[in-house]
Amino acid sequence: MNSEDAESVKYGQLKRSSYLVIGDIAIINASNEKEIEECVAFAKCLSQKAPYLKAFYAKLSTEGEYRVAKLVHLLGEERTATIVKEYGIALAVDIAKAYYNSRLAEEHRRIALMSKDGEKVLDLFSGIGGFALHIASLRSSIIFANDWNKEAVSLLFKSFYFNRKKMKGSIYATVMDAAKLLEELKGKIVFDRIIMNSPTNSVNYLEGALMLSKAGGKVHLYVLSSREEEAIKQLIMPSTKSDASIEAIEEVIEYSPSKSVFRVDLRKT
Ligand SMILES: C[S@@+](CC[C@H](N)C(=O)[O-])C[C@H]1O[C@@H](n2cnc3c(N)ncnc32)[C@H](O)[C@@H]1O
Repeated sequence: MNSEDAESVKYGQLKRSSYLVIGDIAIINASNEKEIEECVAFAKCLSQKAPYLKAFYAKLSTEGEYRVAKLVHLLGEERTATIVKEYGIALAVDIAKAYYNSRLAEEHRRIALMSKDGEKVLDLFSGIGGFALHIASLRSSIIFANDWNKEAVSLLFKSFYFNRKKMKGSIYATVMDAAKLLEELKGKIVFDRIIMNSPTNSVNYLEGALMLSKAGGKVHLYVLSSREEEAIKQLIMPSTKSDASIEAIEEVIEYSPSKSVFRVDLRKT
């Protein structure tokens, strides 16, 4: 079922773009608890049109340091764990325990395609490991994946096991605060590529990450911004202490009506 079909089951204020399917779970966006009843009606219609959907939740917000969804069960199984496929890679997802956004699948692939065999890669805010798993499936590289949410890292282990036969690279995973990890690795290792996909706070860790980047190494920094490129540069350049140059800025996904997530590709000089 696609968004066009959803138009015909539109209810009240719920717009057709206001739901998302993750594996066999439907997540319907709600602005507040008053919309729950509408969401149940919407879920009933969806369940008839798409029998493969087994669980229906309303999402009220994305919360806290782990960026996890605040959910209300609407219909069907009370289950938040599922399996999602991205470009043939099976990902273990639990929408109540760790961040997952299916709209990042193409971005995971894009970065994996940019990477090369033999690289040392650091994914500082790995979540359930989308970037790490895509890279390891395509390249014989070494990827350090880190997230301070242990549930996210244990989902990454599960996914690595699911896909073990197609993995060319190795993944080492840690559960740490990014600042602490950067401090611990300083002077011990340098990376060819560093991925910093925590748009709400990643810029705070840029200076530390650049210290672990080898000369000519790439840093993919994700930030929240309105559209002006100049605003993004002003946000980022103070943290680089001019030992990096901006190679590209690209809009990745919409975050809110006024803001998007942008990827800034930096090169350590
Ligand atoms: C936007 S989500 C990550 C998405 C993931 N890269 C993906 O593609 O699915 C941001 C992640 O950063 C983690 N995070 C935020 N601040 C952190 C910090 N200081 N140290 C470690 N992890 C952090 C959160 O737990 C969350 O899983």
